[in-house]
Amino acid sequence: MIELTNVTKIYGGTKAAVDHLNLTIDDGQILAYIGPNGAGKSTTLKMMTGIISSTEGTIKINGYDISKEPLEAKKQFGFVPDSPDMFLRLKGIEYLNFMADIYEVPEEVRDERINKYAEKFEMTKALGDKILSYSHGMRQKIVLMGALMHNPSVWILDEPLTGLDPKSSYALKEMMKEHAAAGNTVIFSTHVLEVAEKLCDKVAIINHGTLVYNGTLEELKETNEGSLEEIFLKLTGGITE
Ligand SMILES: Nc1ncnc2c1ncn2[C@@H]1O[C@H](COP(=O)(O)OP(=O)(O)O)[C@@H](O)[C@H]1O
Ligand SMILES: [Mg+2]
Repeated sequence: MIELTNVTKIYGGTKAAVDHLNLTIDDGQILAYIGPNGAGKSTTLKMMTGIISSTEGTIKINGYDISKEPLEAKKQFGFVPDSPDMFLRLKGIEYLNFMADIYEVPEEVRDERINKYAEKFEMTKALGDKILSYSHGMRQKIVLMGALMHNPSVWILDEPLTGLDPKSSYALKEMMKEHAAAGNTVIFSTHVLEVAEKLCDKVAIINHGTLVYNGTLEELKETNEGSLEEIFLKLTGGITE
């Protein structure tokens, strides 16, 4: 479960990148966090994960306050950032072992997980190569695998499907569904509406740092006219009536 109460981020100056945000993602839920470029999606996810601090408000992951109990809070989630370009000099397998070491995952358990995910994402052969030589999609996959090494209950994914090939994209979506169905929590950001439509019941739409919708897709379609794309554009100022 993720709970954000009155969360604000001001990077400098007076304009808030995220403005008094209230958002709860329950156990068993997948939430699509949707918004145009610059809306505040990554800023929100970075505050959730403690990468940047909030200017105001509280964030709890499975009940642990990210600023007051950062270590416990951080054990609860796996995070995939928007840019997977990191640890480029490590081989894939070295990166996964590094992540498993940090999260104190026992040897037998980690090997089983590595094999399982490598097979799912067709990364088995690539694990011996340096991440530097990986394509964007492969980097995305290795970061995802690393984030799942400690089997976290909460998944926080920033544009996770960008750059994935159809098979990996399908595999990840199925994994997200299974994870939520098992009682866990998933939040992922996207600007691709179709993804949200096929994957989850609940969406939060953010524009200029403020939530313009928070609820079910069904209700969104019932209370607004037009296609999902048109509704989205209307809510985020892309179409003026
Ligand atoms: N490190 C930063 N310093 C100053 N402004 C930032 C920084 N990161 C993001 N912003 C600004 O905050 C706003 C939200 O950005 P971001 O959260 O990255 O949006 P999104 O992920 O929805 O595209 C944008 O106006 C962006 O320019
Ligand atoms: Mg972003």
